[in-house]
Amino acid sequence: MTSTLIRGRLLSFKRAPHSLTDSDSYLYEHDGGLLVGTDGKIAAIGDYAAVKADAPEDVTEIDHRPHLILPGFIDTHVHFPQMQVVASYAANLLEWLNTYTFPEECRFVESDHATRIATHFYDEFLRQGTTTAVAYCSVHKASADAFFAEALKRNMCMVGGKVMMDRNAPQGLLDTPEMGYDETRAVIERWHGKGRNHVAITPRFAITSTPGQMKAAQTLAEEFPDLFIQTHLSENHEEIRYTCELYPEAKDYTDIYARYGLLGKKTLLGHAIHLSERELDALSEAGSIAVHCPTSNLFLGSGLFPMKQLMRREKPVRISVATDIGGGSSYSMLKTMDEAYKIQQLLGERLNPLESFHLMTRGNAEALSMQDDIGTLDIGTTADLVILDAGATPAMKLRMETIRTLPEELFLLQTMGDDRTVVETYVAGKAMKSTSIAANSGA
Ligand code: GUN
Ligand code: ZN
Repeated sequence: MTSTLIRGRLLSFKRAPHSLTDSDSYLYEHDGGLLVGTDGKIAAIGDYAAVKADAPEDVTEIDHRPHLILPGFIDTHVHFPQMQVVASYAANLLEWLNTYTFPEECRFVESDHATRIATHFYDEFLRQGTTTAVAYCSVHKASADAFFAEALKRNMCMVGGKVMMDRNAPQGLLDTPEMGYDETRAVIERWHGKGRNHVAITPRFAITSTPGQMKAAQTLAEEFPDLFIQTHLSENHEEIRYTCELYPEAKDYTDIYARYGLLGKKTLLGHAIHLSERELDALSEAGSIAVHCPTSNLFLGSGLFPMKQLMRREKPVRISVATDIGGGSSYSMLKTMDEAYKIQQLLGERLNPLESFHLMTRGNAEALSMQDDIGTLDIGTTADLVILDAGATPAMKLRMETIRTLPEELFLLQTMGDDRTVVETYVAGKAMKSTSIAANSGA
């Protein structure tokens, strides 16, 4: 095996951009070279000729000109057992969960089924240029085993958790406080730190966890303080009303999680749309992350997430972006940011394309405290990459004729792009999109 020199237009963020003209916030190399060592890590980045001059003589070269080379996309909230739930017709969140989602997740008690869906899950993410995801598995330990086994095979950096839920769902989807605790521990022992796998403590949401189970989640959080915690918060008005009825002693929905010690810097709160100032202050003080899931929020009619407002508060709330498959309607992070943009438009706010591309890459890596490994093209990080072609379709190619600047090109990618725009996806320096397509077509 030799090192690889990947040539193309390199783009990597150094920090969050302040404006559309904030060119100090990113590194852009028009004729760039990215040297990937045999360990799959980025060994050098810069002008192609300069990087080539210092590269080993036997280096393998891959030429992606004129395409853009970016860090692979990161999706911070997705449900692995909901691939066959996407596009289910429901009036709102609770109807959607009860009618389609819970029955579908029951099937993941079968490890053959979980393994089959896990294969499709990673194939699809790689087709879309996403190299890291934070996923809910189902309540069944078998689903977490399938999720992590497949990630390990592909050497992908993945976060996942066996869902803990012990009420308000079909019998086939319930554990108990003890089972939730024991099986989460078993998943941690088997998978956490194996390859690039990270386990998240995953109480689904307060509606499906009894106080006893929340206590079990708290014990896990205390025993494993470095682990991620993921759950859902304030997605839908009816959900909020019922949740507060179930926990009458809590000040509000956020306070339920606070009371069980579940709010910290590694806590990812899906949706978090309808929050009071008190709740936002609590999230800000805890350093927890509000995960914006735009296609899902629109699809289920949940509401308009006030992202910009949360970011510019005196006590800002950390945010990240995600697909929320299967409540979300697209696997593409490009499409996700297209919808995020439209939501901000409806709220009278501006979300510029530099901010969007920062969020999908470095921003989401920072939300996971993983920027030392993913989300940039910095030396020493893992070469998880996406190669993008802004002229991938005839209509995009035509529009590209009139595009003059990098932010304009990024905005076109976000507005019209999808999986067709993704030329290749690399995991630790290995081309994965083309190889998985070839394997599945029997080629
Ligand atoms: N709240 C609790 N579970 C879910 C889920 O699976 N999807 C969404 N969108 N919200 C939830
Ligand atoms: Zn979700």
